[in-house]
This record gives sequence, structure tokens and C-alpha cells, in this order.
Amino acid sequence: MNVAIVGTGYVGLVSGACLAELGHHVTCVDLDPQKIEKLRQGIMPIFEPGLEETVKRNVGNGRLKFTTEYTEAVPNAEWVSIAVGTPSAEDGSADLSYVFAAAEAVAKHMNKYIVVADKSTVPVGTAERVRECIKKHYSGDFDVISNPEILREGHAVSDFMNPTRIIIGSPSERATELAKQLFAVLDCPKLIMSPRSAELTKYAANAFLATKISYINEIAHLAEMLGADIEEVAIGIGSDPRIGKDFLRAGLGWGGSCFPKDVRAIRKVGEALGHPMSIVSAACEMNERAKSRIVDRVEQALGGLSGKHIGLLGLAFKNNTDDTRESAALELARRFHEAGASVAGYDPEAVIYDPDAMRYVLRGTSPLEVAQNADAIVIATEWDEFRNLDLSAIRKAMKGDLLMDARNLLKPEAVRAAGFRSLSVGRA
Ligand SMILES: NC(=O)c1ccc[n+]([C@@H]2O[C@H](COP(=O)([O-])OP(=O)(O)OC[C@H]3O[C@@H](n4cnc5c(N)ncnc54)[C@H](O)[C@@H]3O)[C@@H](O)[C@H]2O)c1
Repeated sequence: MNVAIVGTGYVGLVSGACLAELGHHVTCVDLDPQKIEKLRQGIMPIFEPGLEETVKRNVGNGRLKFTTEYTEAVPNAEWVSIAVGTPSAEDGSADLSYVFAAAEAVAKHMNKYIVVADKSTVPVGTAERVRECIKKHYSGDFDVISNPEILREGHAVSDFMNPTRIIIGSPSERATELAKQLFAVLDCPKLIMSPRSAELTKYAANAFLATKISYINEIAHLAEMLGADIEEVAIGIGSDPRIGKDFLRAGLGWGGSCFPKDVRAIRKVGEALGHPMSIVSAACEMNERAKSRIVDRVEQALGGLSGKHIGLLGLAFKNNTDDTRESAALELARRFHEAGASVAGYDPEAVIYDPDAMRYVLRGTSPLEVAQNADAIVIATEWDEFRNLDLSAIRKAMKGDLLMDARNLLKPEAVRAAGFRSLSVGRA
């Protein structure tokens, strides 16, 4: 099938490359000429395991192209996925301006029946609004479906190629048939539902996962006070299939490019309908407490933060990605900085876009470098590299002796054996 993907970011680029891998002919459009130029030169604009090989293989076999011009992508396409950003607006609702700008640009280049699929995470009713937007510029037949993306950064290629399910919110048989053809090779349930249900499914899933993390963090704080070990408790409860083991890692709370903005957006929708999302709101409150607790415990252990130097291991919002959007690690850095500490941070891949963050984190090139003269080391992102630190060398490079493992990557006994005072989450 001929496919156009509008927006060549984390979702658009991965989906485009993977659809080409499935045998489709894909053209990815993006407004950012530098991004497209890089891709044409074979340089990946983001770090994502397995992406570069997939892109290069499919550019090489002629199934994957990149352009800034809609004219090169839409007129030939049978399917167009919109995968542009939907950041938070000032009031917390989803800013749909990129989606409508993309829909309008697509509409102006349509010349036959196509399916326009909303892959971006968008509030309920957006597919209908995208349809109205397209109708202003194109009078022929077409369908708009909701096809929310469920890939996880850091596992995006493998998630796309081995999905747990594909959500197809379709208003017509014709669009449903095309969706089944597009994803025919992928062996997973194809969940056909209304566009409104599909749109709500995506927000409901993200809000649930965020709540699950907040729940284990709440129990972790209790475990700290009661002398229990949250890692043991997590195995104990996660072994019940009704609960499940995933997303029961206690730590410094959730962040990233999706959960915070999606949770804000669903709360805003509930508020507008006079239906406060009280469980989701409690999860947000707990998420704030998860970060504050890390900062407070480090402050208490150091006898104050003013004038102290913190070595921060991890800046990305999670491992295996360079993404630092709403990263909890960067939020910790900001709070340490505001409390008067200086922060040196190391991350193997993180790219910092936020100019403010660049002010309060001095970037180091290795764990050992950021440990130099540090009063405390804080592990903030769960990179595998941090599971195998040379703890003795780090301890020697430091001025102080505190290690806060805010991701519970290390065995507290090993940390103590290397001469540290050891703090972690959910353990006495
Ligand atoms: N990142 C994730 O892990 C993830 C997972 C599932 C769903 N989503 C959702 O997918 C959507 C995209 O997220 P992302 O992380 O890939 O965003 P991103 O910011 O990485 O990429 C968006 C891209 O769209 C481009 N763009 C904006 N307007 C355009 C236009 N009119 N025409 C062409 N290109 C345009 C931008 O230049 C950018 O390259 C969001 O709604 C997000 O919530 C993201």
C-alpha cells in the first residue's frame, strides 16, 4: 500500500520505517527541513534501538522516502497517518493546532478516496473535527479513523513490529478493510471500535499506567516507614495475574513526552464535563510527592542542600531513549538547583531541549566525571550502564558518601560495601 506519514518524530519515523519493513511504500513528511536532510543522509534525528538499521534497509530497497513536501507524499497515498505532536496547551488541555494544520495540508493535496488516520494522541471527538477540517478543502470521498499509537520509546521498533493489539477506531467498513490490509502481516488482535472509543482508549491506558506507578510509589513510601522492602512487595502483588508485574517499579515518579500531558488532558476533559477525574488527580499528586521525597531525603541526609554538589546519573525520562521531555530526572535537577545545590549530570544519550535545564545541569561525559567532588550521587534513570558502576572508583572521586538510588537499580549491600551511605526507594 502507498502510505504517507505526516510528522517524522518518535512516532512518525518509527511507524514509517516499520510500515516500510512490512512491505508498504512509505513517504514521511515533516516541516523541519533539517530533520529531513539528516534522514536523507542516513543520520537518525533520535536515538531509538533498531531504528537506524530499519530506516537504512528500507531507504536502500526504495520503500522509504523523506520529504518536506506534501505534494510528494499525499497525492499517491491510499493511507495517511497524522503523527504530529499534541503538547499541553497553557490550561492543560491538548493543543491540537499541529493536528489541524496537518489535516488542512493533507486535505489540500487529496485527489481520491483515502483514509486519514489520527495516530497522534487526541481527545475524543477529534476524528470528527479532523473530518470537518478536511471537508472544507476537499469535496471527494474519504474517511478519518482513530489509530492511536501504543509504542514505547526505547522499545519502539520492536513494539511496532510485535504489537499487543492494534486499535482501529473506524467509522466505515471501507476504512476498516484498508486498516486490516495495512496491518495484515502483524499477528495480534485488531480491535475494531468507534473512533470515540479508540480516542478514549489511548488516554485511559496512559492514565491507568501512570496511576499504577503512583500506586506503587505510595506503597513504597509506606514500606520505607514500616521497614518492608518494596521490591519484595512488588513481586508479591505482581504475581497475582489480576495485578500483573509490569509498571510496579518504585522510583522517582513518571514523566516523559506522554504521561504528563495525556494525564493533564484527560483531567481537563473530565473537568469540562463536570466529572472530576479524582483517581487520576490523586495519581498526579502522588507523582509530585514521589519527586519531593527523593529531594527531601537527600537534603536530610546531607544536612541541607545549599552549597552541596550533586552528581546526577541519568537525564532522559527513561532508559534507551534520548528524550528528556518532562523528564523526572531533570525535574530533580531543577529542585536541587533551586535549593542551592550545583548539579553535574551524565546520560549516555539524553538530548536537552529545554534552555532552562541547560542552566541548572552541567553536563558530564561519564559517571566518574560527575562524581568528582560530589556530596551525593543520585541515580535518576534506569540505564543498564548504571547497574554496573565501578562503585569504589565513584566513591573515591566524591567528597561525600551518599548514594540515592532513585530507581532501585543497585543492591543496597553492594552500595554499602563500597563505602556509601545508601538510600533507595521503598526500603528502610
Ligand atoms: N513519543 C511516544 O512515545 C508516543 C507514543 C504514543 C503516542 N504518541 C503520540 O504521538 C504524537 C507524536 O508524538 P512524537 O513524540 O512522535 O512527537 P515529535 O515531537 O517527536 O514529532 C512530531 C513531528 O511532527 C512534525 N510536524 C509538526 N507539524 C507538522 C505538519 N503540519 N506537517 C508535517 N510535520 C509536522 C514536527 O516537526 C515533528 O518532527 C503525539 O500526539 C504523542 O502523544 C507518542
